Order: sequence, then structure tokens, then C-alpha cells
Amino acid sequence: METVTSIAQVRDRIHAWRAAHERVALVPTMGNLHAGHQSLLAAAHARAQRVVASIFINPLQFGPNEDFTRYPRTPREDERLLTEAGCDLLFAPPVAEIYPQADQPTRIHVRGLSETLCGQFRPGHFDGVATVVAKLLIIIGPDVAVFGEKDYQQLLIIRRMAGDLALPMQIVGAPVVRAPDGLALSSRNQYLSPAERARAPAIHRALREAAAALESGATDYAALERAGTVALTQAEMRVDYFAVRDAADLAPPRSDSARLAVLAAAWLGRARLIDNVRVMPPVRG
Ligand code: PAJ
Repeated sequence: METVTSIAQVRDRIHAWRAAHERVALVPTMGNLHAGHQSLLAAAHARAQRVVASIFINPLQFGPNEDFTRYPRTPREDERLLTEAGCDLLFAPPVAEIYPQADQPTRIHVRGLSETLCGQFRPGHFDGVATVVAKLLIIIGPDVAVFGEKDYQQLLIIRRMAGDLALPMQIVGAPVVRAPDGLALSSRNQYLSPAERARAPAIHRALREAAAALESGATDYAALERAGTVALTQAEMRVDYFAVRDAADLAPPRSDSARLAVLAAAWLGRARLIDNVRVMPPVRG
């Protein structure tokens, strides 16, 4: 696998593949790769001859008091994992390559979807995500880009952004990869102490319980949200939200919602954990 750091280099490599009529898939990441990222690479391989990964810890998506400086950086291990996964090219640009106008970068704001759930607790976060993903998609111009359903709101925002800006690539979502006890894999799980790690699966358990109730026809969403919040609080988490939403647009459920999502974000020690499950409620007549 080759690693390049400039836009000119990455464009040059992709131009050669395009000339040979090869399909290209992109997997954007912030590094510190784990089995969740590996599953995206596998999904990318299934859809294209050439797989490009990016590693860029995007300052624009971190708030002033968030973990940008201590976000885990493991470049050697990441290169090894990407090579083993058969990745063809790693794009790992420095900040100045992506944001030449450091003080005043052009930003992309996806209205509505960016303001709810995590957007309420992390102002500006999704503008940073949409901006960097738009730039990566424009720089690399893949046929398909793969994102994890673990960050479900992020996936919907990227899909909406690509549609609104008529970006021609397909945006693919890949299932959440979990530890055997149900905790969604995340680079931020390493902020957990052993005692916190033992309590962390409560988040997936509470989501599954709400999902099971919805599958059996429960419609008192506020009661499910309260019960979920109580369960996480009992596991000593500080809950940002536990919410039942329409899976298509994250609006409150409607009587004709075909799919629902139960989404939660909660602090456990220094780690902010997010997770979600999606369900099909029984058809209401
Ligand atoms: P990062 O947290 O590194 O995640 C990169 C991709 O891996 C995202 O699409 C994320 O949803 C996916 N992912 C992470 N954990 C996963 C898991 N347990 N199962 C399945 N997929 C998982 O998300 C970002 O980086 C950034 O916001 C980015 C999109 C790269 C923009 O900066």
C-alpha cells in the first residue's frame, strides 16, 4: 500500500486507475483503526477494484473543549492494518492541505438534520463533518464511499449533503460492529477505565429493550425514552439523549413511519458513547 499526503498525489494515482476503467471506493476515517473500520474496507472491496482510505483527524469537527489533542493517533498500526486489509492507497494529509484558509474555511451546513440529537450537544460538529467529507469526495471522486451505521446521524447527513450538492458517488452504510458484550467498537472506548468498560454495554442493552417494545407495537415513545434514560443513569452514565425517531429523517415518529431508530448518546467517565438500533414497527391499520 502506498501512502500519500498531498491532493496532487492522490489525484494522480486515481487518474491512472480511472484511465484503466477501474472502480474506486473510499473509506474516510480519523485513524486508530479497529474491526469497525475493517468492516468498511471489506464493504468497499466488495464494490470496487480499488480501495482508498483516508486518515485525517479533522479539527473542524471538534468543539473547543473536546478531545482533538488527545484523540488516539496510531499511524504505524493503522498502516499495517490497512495493508493487511488490501487497501491500495492511504491519503493522510496534514491539516494545511485540507484547510489552506485556516482561519476562514468554507463550511457546509446541512440544515435540519444537523441541528437535532448530537447536533444539539456538539454545536458545529456536523458542519465540520459535512465540510471535510465533501472535500474528500471532491478530491478523490470515488464511485462509492462507505460509512458506518454506528454514526447513524452522520451517515444521513452525508447522504443528504451528497444528494443536495449533486455529488455523483454512491453513499453506502455498513452495519455496526460490536464487541461480544454488545458495546459498539469505537476509538473512544479506550478512554474507559476497566470498571466503566464493564458498565458500557448498558447502552446497547437499553436500545435493544426499547427496540423490542417498538417491535411488539409500543407507541408511547416518551415512556420508552424515559425508561432508557433511567437505565443508562443507573449504569452511572450522564445521558445527553435517548430518543425514538423516524429512521429516514430523524424527525419524531409518525403514524406511517416505516422504520424507526432508537438513538442514544451518554457520557461514561471521559468517554462520550453513541449507539443506535433500527426497527420496523408493526404496520398500523
Ligand atoms: P471515525 O470515527 O474514524 O469513523 C470512520 C468510519 O468508521 C465512520 O463511517 C464510522 O461510522 C465507522 N465506524 C466507526 N466505528 C464503527 C463500528 N463499530 N461499526 C461500524 N462502523 C464504524 O466518523 C468519522 O471517523 C469522521 O467523522 C469522518 C467521517 C472520517 C469525517 O471526519
